Parts: sequence; C-alpha cells; structure tokens
Amino acid sequence: MKGIILAGGSGSRLYPVSQAYSKQLIMIYDKPMIYYPFSVLMLAGIKEALIISNEETLPYYRKLFGDGSQLGMSISYALQEEPRGIADAFLVGENFIGKDSVTLILGDNIFYGKLDFIRKAIQGNEGGTVFGYYVNDPERYGVVEFNASGKVISIEEKPKRPKSNYAVVGLYIYDRTVSEKARSLQPSARGELEITDLNNLYLKEKRLKVELFGRGIAWLDTGTPRSLLEAATFIGAVENRQGLKIACIEEIAYMMNFIDRKMFKEIIDSMPLSSYREYLNKIYRDKQLYNRYQD
Ligand code: TTP
Repeated sequence: MKGIILAGGSGSRLYPVSQAYSKQLIMIYDKPMIYYPFSVLMLAGIKEALIISNEETLPYYRKLFGDGSQLGMSISYALQEEPRGIADAFLVGENFIGKDSVTLILGDNIFYGKLDFIRKAIQGNEGGTVFGYYVNDPERYGVVEFNASGKVISIEEKPKRPKSNYAVVGLYIYDRTVSEKARSLQPSARGELEITDLNNLYLKEKRLKVELFGRGIAWLDTGTPRSLLEAATFIGAVENRQGLKIACIEEIAYMMNFIDRKMFKEIIDSMPLSSYREYLNKIYRDKQLYNRYQD
C-alpha cells in the first residue's frame, strides 16, 4: 500500500498567506499542518509516500521530510501545476502508484482519536473505501445518501439540500485501477476532476465501501482563519493536558518501529535546542511509554 498526501490547492479562503505558499505549511499549534495527515499515513503503517504540491511549496516540503529515510520511510515529491482537483492526484501520481493500491489523504485534514480502523480498512479494501463523518454543515462536502436499509446509494458533491449529515472526509483508499478510472473523468463545472465522481464510478461497480467514523473521532477543518484557530486550540488543549504531542512524526516513527532507538536518538541530537527536541528526549527516556505502545 502506497500513500499520497495532496498538499497544494489554491487556499483562496486563507488569502493573503496563500499568495506565498500553500496552506499546509501553516503551523497548527506547534507543528506544520502537513504533519497531521502525514502522521495518519504513518499510523496506518504506510512507509512509502508521495507529496503532491505546487512549485512554490514543494521545496519547503523537501526541507521538512527529505527522502524520508531519517523516519524509516521513502518520500517522493510530484508537481501539480494547477489545482485541477483532488482526483487529479491519481494522474500526477500514476507512476508512483504503479500496480499498487493507494491511500490518499488531503494535506489539510486533521484526524484525532483511535485510528486503528484505518489500518483495518486498508487491509480489507477491495475496490474503494471512503469514510463518512456526521457534521453540522454537510453542504460543504461530498454527502453520502443512504436508502431505508442503510445502504449507500449515492454521493453528492456540495448538494444544496444534503440527503444526510454524513460528509465524506479527506481520506480515501483505492485499488490499483484508480488512475485508470481518474483518466476517464471529465472536469466539473468548476474545472476540477472531482473525487466524488471517482467515488461514484466505484459505487456504480458496487465496489465502494463507505465506513462511518464514530463520534469519538475528531475531524477538524483547517480551511478558514477561524477553523485554523479552533484546530490549534483543540490540539493545544489535548497536548497540554497529557504532556504528549499529537502528530509528532519522529515519535511515531520510533513507536511504530520504522526506526530503532539508535536512529531515534540521532534525529533528536540533530535538532536545534527547542521544546520539540526536549519533548522527544522525554519520549526517548520513557521506556514504559514505548513498551505500552508495543502491546
Ligand atoms: P480544498 O480545501 O478543497 O481547496 P483549497 O485548499 O484550494 O482551498 P480553498 O477552497 O480555500 O481555495 O482542498 C482540499 C485539499 O486538497 C487541500 O489540502 C488542498 C488540496 N488540493 C490540491 O492539492 N490540489 C487540488 O487541485 C485541490 C482541489 C486541492
């Protein structure tokens, strides 16, 4: 299973910062936004990932992640010249995907909670798997329509009259036919290759599974100034209460055994003096935390 993080876009709702670079570099509390979706892929056990973004921002991601080997991963990069839609990720990433299946996560999506079900969904995926989450404002998203017996019958993109409160979140699992399907899509009225159209292709083949997130999972939005502030406040509140970080990629690489204890220490020692480094030293010393994670 390969992973793609789509981290370009126009970010028009975050103008003026989006004039300079894409929004996924913005700090959410104590780390760049892209760390959050990046860590979700790691927690799902994915070690080989492609980051897609625009020309201005790609060099910054290279600085943040390099070739990924320091995290026991392999990271590559690809350019999306224009924001041609979410499904365009499977055309930009076609060579990277090859004959594998792939999990796509949007660079501005933050998930928090017990996420083991993602790994299980990856293992059980046959055609495509997407996830629905109960929200207050479904009309902003792809919305799942269910029939009387709870079976999914359609997904509608930003409907004026949503047929349920279940929005499709920015995490999608597909089999190896995804790039071929993406190639058959026509751009929508807004000129984008729509992920909803791709999902409906799988649905038509009866090969789309829609799993629902429980209420215990937080799916945070980061598209507007206000939602950015709220996300940062949420992350800050949980981190300060526990003294543990959310989406700390070096810690996750260690806990997931992508890297051994020696490599973990090497990364820590290469960091400038900072509270981030102090935190990782604390994790390094706390063997109990590590042992508990292995259970
Ligand atoms: P959106 O939030 O739908 O769009 P946007 O980021 O361009 O922002 P705005 O609506 O304010 O203009 O994008 C969802 C995620 O997917 C986000 O992380 C950006 C990314 N994206 C791309 O990288 N390329 C694309 O072509 C699109 C449509 C989105």
